[in-house]
Amino acid sequence: AIDPQFEQSREVVEEHDGHRVWGPVEEPEELGIHGTHVAVDFDICLEDGACLEDCPVDVFEWVDTPGHPESERKADPANESQCIDCMLCVDVCPVDAIDVDPG
Ligand code: SF4
Ligand code: F3S
Ligand code: ZN
Repeated sequence: AIDPQFEQSREVVEEHDGHRVWGPVEEPEELGIHGTHVAVDFDICLEDGACLEDCPVDVFEWVDTPGHPESERKADPANESQCIDCMLCVDVCPVDAIDVDPG
């Protein structure tokens, strides 16, 4: 599961489409965590898609990640500022790849 303390245990290594990426990143095998308020651990995400289907405000968009061992697409929190903290994505992700920090 994603480490809920990632803001303490990791460092921001880059920006992607307006959100932070928390390392380490070693492409293509190691991709880090994308987003902060809505954070997706790309190294855990296995392209289930429930988060994209269920988010009521369409926070997530697919991003291609060819060569990653878990899956070649990830749910990117491209619109994390739209999040309404319903926690649905956190509940439906089968591998607990998502952390949402309300407030
Ligand atoms: Fe979307 Fe709700 Fe998840 Fe926020 S908590 S990203 S609104 S599903
Ligand atoms: Fe990935 Fe979990 Fe969404 S596996 S696609 S973050 S439901
Ligand atoms: Zn991203």
